[in-house]
Amino acid sequence: GRSRVKVPASTANLGPGFDTLGMALSLYAWIEMEEAAETVFYLHGDEMNGLPRDKSNLLYQVAQLVFAEAGVSVPELSISMYSEIPLTRGLGSSASAIVGALAAANALIGSPLSHAKLFDMASALEKHPDNVGASLFGGIITAVWDGEHADYIRIEPPTELEVLVVIPEFELSTSKARGVLPREVSVSDAVYNISRTSLLTAALSTGRLDLIGRAMQDRLHQPYRAPLVPGMEKLLAEAPDHGALGIALSGAGPTLLCLVDRNESRKGELEAFLKESMLAQGITARTCWLLPD
Ligand code: HSE
Repeated sequence: GRSRVKVPASTANLGPGFDTLGMALSLYAWIEMEEAAETVFYLHGDEMNGLPRDKSNLLYQVAQLVFAEAGVSVPELSISMYSEIPLTRGLGSSASAIVGALAAANALIGSPLSHAKLFDMASALEKHPDNVGASLFGGIITAVWDGEHADYIRIEPPTELEVLVVIPEFELSTSKARGVLPREVSVSDAVYNISRTSLLTAALSTGRLDLIGRAMQDRLHQPYRAPLVPGMEKLLAEAPDHGALGIALSGAGPTLLCLVDRNESRKGELEAFLKESMLAQGITARTCWLLPD
């Protein structure tokens, strides 16, 4: 047999919901698996260069975790992957690879593992549930992971919601962007984020787009990560004046995420503002209009 899965990219945090909120985006990776006489890899796309093509490959390793969990043995695999998701930019490329490998391996052996089980495994591999949850379930997810088990609720994205991402040309590793975070935060910053995350979750579930801008505010990670993304503070402060409902760092960055009302008339203005502000910092960035998946 052969299995084939299509997995969406994702954006994590949505501002205040650090390690909690995620949203699937209309950029994709495709993974195929087949039992083979000898393990081989077909990794397509510019982003795939430099990945290992032996059994140390993440896709192979993740597939073996599924087989072990299900109690079956499939030691040799032909694995193909094509991805249009940019690597190490904050768009969940590693989460989509993990989720794709879990789902493809599970499908290959007749889907013995539940999605809930795959979510637990994916969260453990990624160490936070936001990107993997969005890639696995689609839509907007609010997730809790206790280190072993992940719980979530999937929210259907408001139909008027469009997404504009600004993808800088440079890469930023998640571990570097997590390394700059403080070990402790004040109660007032914690309350600031809890209240906005709750408001944002409720606003997204009820279609209150008018509240998104004020809810997408954060004091837990973005202020510390701002020095890693030149121009970010200005963009966060000013994008709403150019037609964004709200703006945040996408995951650990460096990509920035704008939520935009589909009926907004200033889309061109917003796009130009974002690109020019990055360029003023010496950074070339490309913009891309996406939809929640
Ligand atoms: N929630 C994670 C972070 C997402 O912000 O570090 C990065 O993959």
